[in-house]
Amino acid sequence: MQDRNLALEVVRITEAAAVASARLMGKGDRKLADHVAVEAMRQAFDAIDICGTVQIGEGERDKAPMLFIGEKVGGGWRNNPRASPKVDIAVDPLEGTNLCATGAPDAISVIAIADDGQFLNAPDTYMEKIAVGPEARGVIDLRQSWTWNLERIAAAKHKKVQDCTVIILERIRHNTLIEEVRGAGARIRLISDGDVSGAIMTANPDSGIDVLFGTGGAPEGVIAAAALKCIGGELQGRLRFRSNPERDRAEKMGVKPEDTIYTTEDLAQGDVMFAATGVTKGYLLDGVKFFGDSATTESIVMRSKSGTVRVIKATHDFKKKPR
Ligand code: FBP
Repeated sequence: MQDRNLALEVVRITEAAAVASARLMGKGDRKLADHVAVEAMRQAFDAIDICGTVQIGEGERDKAPMLFIGEKVGGGWRNNPRASPKVDIAVDPLEGTNLCATGAPDAISVIAIADDGQFLNAPDTYMEKIAVGPEARGVIDLRQSWTWNLERIAAAKHKKVQDCTVIILERIRHNTLIEEVRGAGARIRLISDGDVSGAIMTANPDSGIDVLFGTGGAPEGVIAAAALKCIGGELQGRLRFRSNPERDRAEKMGVKPEDTIYTTEDLAQGDVMFAATGVTKGYLLDGVKFFGDSATTESIVMRSKSGTVRVIKATHDFKKKPR
């Protein structure tokens, strides 16, 4: 699909969103932090020569003024619609709005890009997920119990279940899951938000996280699958509706029956690229740091085609490029 340089271009989009929202870190206003990230991202898209269509975004057109599902983004539409690559866009300008609003770890800004029509058109509902890094790819099965999965993951990683760490969103709906994982003897890291970061951590040995279990946003599931596909990990998910109207709407969108297991490939097909920039300092990425006239960012950029993972540290000079 896209040329190699595009991967390095798109990171500017997440950098712009991260710098904008990081200025509001700890201010207690998650909506505003999200809004400025969306605006910065929307603007940064214009400088990239793509004809993008938002597939996973801020929601539907009537609810989201920008980066709504179906919105056309990228300078290609204006400058060169015939020659610019037509791509699917999945964005979460500020993943972990509460984390940013409270200055907690691992708020990130993310984007994933695939060829036209390659991301699952995920409804705005929940998804039950298991995510693992490359060592445990191929051994998980969401239809089996958490304990069964833990035993398989531990065996694949040549360690004991007791030495495995599971990352789980701290939610009441996860009480039984947490009990089962404790019963199996594994260690747990509970997070208040941010299961995209949590999923990516499973592929980073430095994080000490072996697996993500539990239910979070379905759009976040698609984005995390795109990231894990680039690094050779795996994510399995199945939709979990919060209400009957949600189920009805999803049916109208043509999604498969509720218990269908989506594989990494179902969620993000073909060649995919992924970029994320840290907003708050976390286990995955450093956060934005501000100096007199500049700021530094840390990002990760990956492509499924080459498998290359790049960590990019950037200094943004506001004297030359105000933000
Ligand atoms: P936001 O960035 O939209 O606040 O989402 C944060 C998040 O924690 C996601 O990482 C996760 O998938 C989802 O919310 C879980 O939803 P809920 O808070 O309803 O349990």
